[in-house]
Order: sequence, then C-alpha cells, then structure tokens
Amino acid sequence: MEVLGSILSADFAHLQKDVDALRDASIDGIHLDVMDGQFVPNISFGLPVIDKIKSDLPLDFHLMVRNPEIFVSHLANEESPYKRSNFKHSVTLHVESSAQIDDDLELLKAFGYSPRVAINPSTLVAAIDPFLDIIDGVLIMSVNPGYSGQAFIEGVLNKAKVLKEMKPSLKIGIDGGVNDKSIKLIRQAPIDYVISASYLFNAKDMSLAVDSLR
Ligand code: DX5
Ligand code: ZN
Repeated sequence: MEVLGSILSADFAHLQKDVDALRDASIDGIHLDVMDGQFVPNISFGLPVIDKIKSDLPLDFHLMVRNPEIFVSHLANEESPYKRSNFKHSVTLHVESSAQIDDDLELLKAFGYSPRVAINPSTLVAAIDPFLDIIDGVLIMSVNPGYSGQAFIEGVLNKAKVLKEMKPSLKIGIDGGVNDKSIKLIRQAPIDYVISASYLFNAKDMSLAVDSLR
C-alpha cells in the first residue's frame, strides 16, 4: 500500500517542519488539500503557500475548488516550478467541481502530471465515464470533503472493484478517515494508495503510524 501524508492536519505555523516530519517517517508522497470555501465549506491554503513548501517527494494535489482551471494553469505551463521536478506529481480534480475538467485533465497530462479524478461519497462511479481515457487514477472519497478527522464511510469501498473492472490500470486511492482500524477494511478492496492526515499527525510515533497503513 502506498501511503501519502495530508498536511491538512499539520501545524501551519510550522508547515515545513511537519512536511519534513512526514519525509522522516518514510511517507511516499505529500497530499495537498486545496479548498476554496465554495466547492467545500472550508478554506485551507492555495498556491502561495504550496509554492513555499520544500519537498523532495512526489506531490499529490487534491483540488477541492469550484474553478480548478486557475490552479491547473499555474501547474501546467512552461515556467511552472513543478515541471522541472524528478517526480511525476499527480493532480486530482473533482468530477463534481466543474463541467470542463476534461480540458484541464488533458492539459495536466500534456505537462507530465498524473491526471486523476476524485468522487465524493454520494457520487456514482459512472460519473468518471467521460474521463476514463484521459485519467490514470481515481480518488474515492471516504468522507465528505472539507475537513480532516472525520469518520470513515465504509460503503464507498465497493466502488474500487467496479473502477478496476472499468480500467484495470487505474490507480485507486482512498481519502478520509484512514487509520489503523479502517485500513483493515481498505486492504480487502483493490486499493493502491491511501491518504492520511489526522491519524498520522496525532500519532506518538509517525513512522510507526505510516508502517501500520502499509
Ligand atoms: C478531506 C481531505 C482529506 C483529509 C483527510 O477533505 O481531502 O485529504 O485531509 O484527513 P483525515 O485523514 O484526518 O480523515
Ligand atoms: Zn484530500
């Protein structure tokens, strides 16, 4: 299991310290929860904050915003600071966010990102159909997006098998309420990666917490 750390539960007054702590705990990548207060009821951080983060790990942009194109055009252009990276960063757009995400996904793919879509707990798997040829991953939300520390919604797990049948090469992720208990259920489904914020940041030993999710 690939384990990505979400900085939504980090101490934003010492953000770099917490990004480094995730790296020291052998995390596989940094998950960046961008929230605009419109698509979701909460506001987290945007590009000025993200651009200051120093990381030598793959970045996983999770755009919970009504107008993802503002972010996509920052990431997918010749001058983008992320373009020169050694890693293939991933960018996940919500199918519920805007009608034109296919253009955004194509642009991200052309600039070397891994284009992915996220589906909210109440969104049916069929909603990804129009994007199936472009994307290489789907993030199944196991909480309603907006906050860390929410309870895991078990019922979403059966979406994973259906998605793998639609396109076996899809990388399937789970986001929300991932901890040492829910991981036992998650392991029974064809899930490739999990995102965790509160479980990792509340742990006494972050390395052990990461290991418990692997
Ligand atoms: C929720 C975010 C998640 C969140 C996970 O809207 O997309 O990535 O940070 O937090 P935990 O792991 O605490 O549920
Ligand atoms: Zn997320």
